[in-house]
Amino acid sequence: MNITIRAARTSDIPGLIALIDPFVEGGNVLRRTYQELGELLPNFFVAVLETSQNGTDGMGEIVGCAALEIYSPKLAEVRSLAVASKIQGQGIGRRLVSVCVERARIKNVLEVMAITTSDEFFMKCGFDYSLPGAKRALFVQTRETKDAMHPTLEQSAPTDTAPRSP
Ligand SMILES: CC(C)(COP(=O)(O)OP(=O)(O)OC[C@H]1O[C@@H](n2cnc3c(N)ncnc32)[C@H](O)[C@@H]1OP(=O)(O)O)[C@@H](O)C(=O)NCCC(=O)NCCS
Repeated sequence: MNITIRAARTSDIPGLIALIDPFVEGGNVLRRTYQELGELLPNFFVAVLETSQNGTDGMGEIVGCAALEIYSPKLAEVRSLAVASKIQGQGIGRRLVSVCVERARIKNVLEVMAITTSDEFFMKCGFDYSLPGAKRALFVQTRETKDAMHPTLEQSAPTDTAPRSP
């Protein structure tokens, strides 16, 4: 199985929606509109399953994705991370997080965060609860979320720029 990680393209958006949607039900990933995905596209990455039929031009089935949302020169967040169930546990999630962190390095962003229920996974990707100098991230939520089933996972208007769930 040949899996390539590459930058996302506009033509990937329908495939991204198809990949992300099943995980929205479980409350792990926020639903994304076509427009939101378009806005994240400059720092969005996809894992593509290439077969002998679709060749090696990165045009195969989208089986993973992750975006780096850059809030400021100091802070970015890994968002919309998902790996198709059929290929989970093969290191694709870690590769996707790694390209997001590398993008942050290239853009000279100081810190990358993840707001997640998969904290053990992120710890395996090198994330931790604290920063050098014994600094910790603390949060306060300023309004109710719309998703009563998953009160810690916010489903807010697409125009918001504040950090939300991945
Ligand atoms: C979380 C997710 C992205 C991980 O992707 P993946 O490709 O299966 O992960 P990897 O194979 O790269 O795993 C890397 C390591 O993390 C571990 N790991 C993976 N998922 C984990 C989880 N949910 N909890 C704890 N550890 C996990 C793996 O066992 C592996 O450990 P190892 O290096 O000791 O073998 C994937 O399970 C997924 O898409 N889940 C549903 C959506 C979701 O929860 N997204 C995250 C929102 S922030």
